[in-house]
Amino acid sequence: MVNSNSNIYKGYNQAKPDGYDKEISHTNFGTPGGEYLRRYWHPVALTSEVSTTPLQIKILGEDLVIFKTTKNKIGLVHKNCPHRRASLVYGKCETNGIRCCYHGWLFSPDGEILETPGEDPDSKQAEQVRKKFKLGAYPIKEFNGIVFAYMGPPEKIPSFPHYDAYDISDIVRRPYKINYNCNWIQVLDAIMDPVHTSFLHGQSSGIQFSEGFAELGEIEFFERGMQYLGANTRRVDDNIWVRVNELILPNFTQAGSAFAADGTKTRYFGRSSFTRWVVPIDDEHCVAIAWGNFGDRADPIEYNNKEGCERIEAGEIIDRTWEEKQKSPGDAEAVEGMGFISQHKGEHLMPTDHGIMSYRRHIRKSIKALQEGTEPKQFKNNGDAIKTYGQDTVLRVPKRNVDDRKFIKSVGAAVLKLQFDSEKMPNKDRDSFIIKELSNMEKNGAF
Ligand code: FES
Ligand SMILES: [Fe+2]
Repeated sequence: MVNSNSNIYKGYNQAKPDGYDKEISHTNFGTPGGEYLRRYWHPVALTSEVSTTPLQIKILGEDLVIFKTTKNKIGLVHKNCPHRRASLVYGKCETNGIRCCYHGWLFSPDGEILETPGEDPDSKQAEQVRKKFKLGAYPIKEFNGIVFAYMGPPEKIPSFPHYDAYDISDIVRRPYKINYNCNWIQVLDAIMDPVHTSFLHGQSSGIQFSEGFAELGEIEFFERGMQYLGANTRRVDDNIWVRVNELILPNFTQAGSAFAADGTKTRYFGRSSFTRWVVPIDDEHCVAIAWGNFGDRADPIEYNNKEGCERIEAGEIIDRTWEEKQKSPGDAEAVEGMGFISQHKGEHLMPTDHGIMSYRRHIRKSIKALQEGTEPKQFKNNGDAIKTYGQDTVLRVPKRNVDDRKFIKSVGAAVLKLQFDSEKMPNKDRDSFIIKELSNMEKNGAF
């Protein structure tokens, strides 16, 4: 018999659903979270998917069609024709736009009604309709194999942010896209969760990235305005490996490498294996759209294939049997297993979840501020590319006669400080400066 005072067998007491966090989970049009996200540029498709055969996509809960005219101009428009709502996925792409299959209306990529061929050409009403009504369309920017869109109020459109990650020489960028069957926050959380890399990617499922991941490091979080960094510093024999994951609000993410760094070889300011955004499709689905980065300062070039990108993104290839997934869960299993929308009220957040708590709080504050009329902050270029911090540094720093956990944490902090101190430096000088200084720090043991 279970004693009624027992502090175990709490199933019944805890069976009541805990509830989820609507404020940051809901992103459809008209929701506070949806309004907030609609103030930023988001990737919506890969250029390779966009052609003169229209493609139906869903972003932020909106059904959209993306297409290319025969003159190669990309249009991102509402799915339903403003005449009688036929789907433009059946439309025909022409020189100047897309023609609805039902009654032949022709729309330009920016939403102008160019022709209403079934109507009397002299009809004043048709002329008025052509002038007055539009097909809903969004501005896009095609960049390096990815199509970005701005889906907010036109008068609030921010400039297109340019990150330093776009300009690192000798890196091959391969666009990829991976769908998740869960809310966007679940996928975003993982970037501010450096501990899961040790357990999920290094122990529970065997070694999914490099061997060194299994070691649980010293975690430190840094908050710098809209930029959140989670540093995991590990000792690997005589080396100290500083790996930094990065989130720039609302949804830009970078990390260190997945396979290139394992702490055994010296590495100075190696850069992220991906440059990636987590974009809501609707409240229960999201998509990671990214470049996988390959080269000496990112992941090895032999991973530059579809499978490589999937493994970098989620630790495993995506298309697997249930048995494989259950035996070796990757990120997709971890985050989708929480349910379509995770019940945040049932979480018990720990000090290692500090980064998650902070960024969620920031998003919540920005959403509230926007409701009260204050526009969310934008990361601006100010004449130079935006500096990012996702990186790996491995220095040879043998143990000293001090508490090693504290010591490796201080090395992690010193590596980050060097990067922060060079923040004002032009990007063209910054990389070589950091690399040189890291090597000096290692030589002089200046920690
Ligand atoms: S429904 Fe599209 S032209 Fe009539
Ligand atoms: Fe992960």
